[in-house]
Amino acid sequence: MSYNLLKGKKGIIFGALDENSIAWKTAERVHEEGGSFVLTNAPIAMRMGQINELAKKTNSEIIPADATNLDDLENLVEKATEILGGKLDFVLHSIGMSVNVRKGKAYTDPNYDWTHKGLDVSALSFHKTMHVLYKKDAMNEWGSIVALTYMAAQRVFPDYNDMADNKAYLESIARSFGYFFGRDKNVRVNTISQSPTPTTAGQGVKGFDGFMAYAEKMSPLGNATAIDCANYTVSLFSDLTKRVTLQNLYNDGGFSNMGVSNEVMEAFVKEQ
Ligand SMILES: NC(=O)c1ccc[n+]([C@@H]2O[C@H](COP(=O)([O-])OP(=O)(O)OC[C@H]3O[C@@H](n4cnc5c(N)ncnc54)[C@H](O)[C@@H]3O)[C@@H](O)[C@H]2O)c1
Repeated sequence: MSYNLLKGKKGIIFGALDENSIAWKTAERVHEEGGSFVLTNAPIAMRMGQINELAKKTNSEIIPADATNLDDLENLVEKATEILGGKLDFVLHSIGMSVNVRKGKAYTDPNYDWTHKGLDVSALSFHKTMHVLYKKDAMNEWGSIVALTYMAAQRVFPDYNDMADNKAYLESIARSFGYFFGRDKNVRVNTISQSPTPTTAGQGVKGFDGFMAYAEKMSPLGNATAIDCANYTVSLFSDLTKRVTLQNLYNDGGFSNMGVSNEVMEAFVKEQ
């Protein structure tokens, strides 16, 4: 169902890799709600070619950018404002990657060069993106910037590895940069903390199926899907959430406030 919530709004969507990506679902929903945007991803991800399909479907252009590279980001913001014919109303940062996770390194014994790389891709890229948007004064007043995160920033999930630290840093950047963006440009900055979701990045985490099944049983509303996340993001891009900023917002079916659920308890109670 469409409510035209984003009619006339323009933006940039980072991170659509394939149709499972949260950014992919968000692009589809933003398009349905009347928003227009430029799609971007790392040049290496472009080679997989699937993003072209999404661009066609949503009448959007693609500008490759490595989100850790300031020159690429400057080029992206310049071209996007040209293509879209003015300043931006929304930006979605939907990027995450840990080399230590990919290569099976334990949290207690990382390769620190890989730790740096993961931090740059997963967290600093958000700072760099906002730095370029801020410096170029590329956001319209009452615009909205959203990044995606996970609850391992607050609680221990052993196999989430150094991504937990990256997410804590990302959430802090949202608050710190969000202050300046709010004060100087009336732009809001928030993170959405999403349930485990079966995507390329999600499934890269060891024991992901266990994560998903446990969260499903713990959450009174069940796990939030990629489409649920897309819908929440649309609401944050819309004018209905104008003074929501500096927040880490849980889209997790209630998981983050649970201690234990009946279903999880049952698995531990022996039959009398
Ligand atoms: N899947 C989950 O369980 C889950 C849960 C909570 C939060 N998140 C977060 O959601 C976001 C999107 O991930 P997803 O689950 O849709 O997976 P995904 O694998 O579809 O998306 C990750 C994206 O990051 C992009 N990327 C990697 N390095 C990049 C770089 N240098 N420059 C630009 N882009 C780069 C990839 O190409 C890919 O498109 C991530 O921040 C992830 O941590 C995911």
